[in-house]
Amino acid sequence: MITGAGLGCRKFIWLGCLFPMTQGEMVVTTEQLEIDQSNARFWNELCGSGFARSLGLTDHSFESLRRFDEGFFGLYPYLLPIVQPDRMVGKDVLEIGLGYGTLGQKIAEAGARYKGLDIAPNAVEMLNHRLRLMNLPGSAVCGSALEMTFPDESFDFVVSIGCLHHTGNIQRCFDEVFRVLRGGGVAVLMAYNKFSWRQWTGWPLQTTAELLRDWRVLNRPDRISTERRKAYDANAAGEAAPETVLLSRRDLRRMLAKFESVSIQAQNMDPFRLCGRVLVNRAKLLGNFGRVLGLDLYLTAQKKATNYTTHESN
Ligand SMILES: C[S@@+](CC[C@H](N)C(=O)[O-])C[C@H]1O[C@@H](n2cnc3c(N)ncnc32)[C@H](O)[C@@H]1O
Repeated sequence: MITGAGLGCRKFIWLGCLFPMTQGEMVVTTEQLEIDQSNARFWNELCGSGFARSLGLTDHSFESLRRFDEGFFGLYPYLLPIVQPDRMVGKDVLEIGLGYGTLGQKIAEAGARYKGLDIAPNAVEMLNHRLRLMNLPGSAVCGSALEMTFPDESFDFVVSIGCLHHTGNIQRCFDEVFRVLRGGGVAVLMAYNKFSWRQWTGWPLQTTAELLRDWRVLNRPDRISTERRKAYDANAAGEAAPETVLLSRRDLRRMLAKFESVSIQAQNMDPFRLCGRVLVNRAKLLGNFGRVLGLDLYLTAQKKATNYTTHESN
């Protein structure tokens, strides 16, 4: 729970709250607490578990994790070139939303001063297990991206791939990311693309309505259906992630206006199918269609350097 900075992770999840309360500047509503609790439960089945099963992996041994990571980076070949862990050597790096821990391990291996944050205890345990297994420094802690306990300006990089759009309040998360970044610091984030090929082909009417909203012809954004959420994230029982929002480039630029510079690129792609048959496979589409109508929008946002930071780096 958001109030539980000093509590153990499991209490964090299960403490209920009947009335809205204020935490710092954030009003924590009952609705938000329910989203947090649902997220912690849902994501306790680690993101990537289905992929691990498809590889026949049944444990978290060194060899199983190596095979998982090899498959993961094979699936997302653009991820490391975007995140660039090599530039993080000796830097304070926060990763939010850890999943199976593949990227977190890479960042720690690169020589960053690594800190991980996740609302799901099992994701935190997985990351700490990896750090111990690989004998790497750093740690992961349980908590919410919405109300981070880290002091202002404590990180040089914040990395969050596919997490903030699940929290129920992405603007609040972006504001928190901005707060904890130092002047000159860089956020590398990924959010789902509202105008992807999947959306245009699966939900053409809703996507057209989204486009009109994006152009401010319509307002009142809809909450996306369970079916649309399930198309992105589902657990072994076939349930959709509790909360998902899709975003446009325009949404993201508006929400990240506090940053000095923001660059956005589309990545990731579904295969082209006709009557259930694959016509063009995903790998062939990643470098072309994926860059225009891709499933995911990757953002690199830089916070303006303070005079002190500029002086330091000179
Ligand atoms: C789709 S997974 C992405 C995991 C990983 N970054 C990847 O790319 O595989 C989303 C992750 O965000 C975490 N998460 C969801 N809501 C959160 C919140 N409010 N604060 C922190 N982490 C959260 C989930 O527990 C889960 O580990």
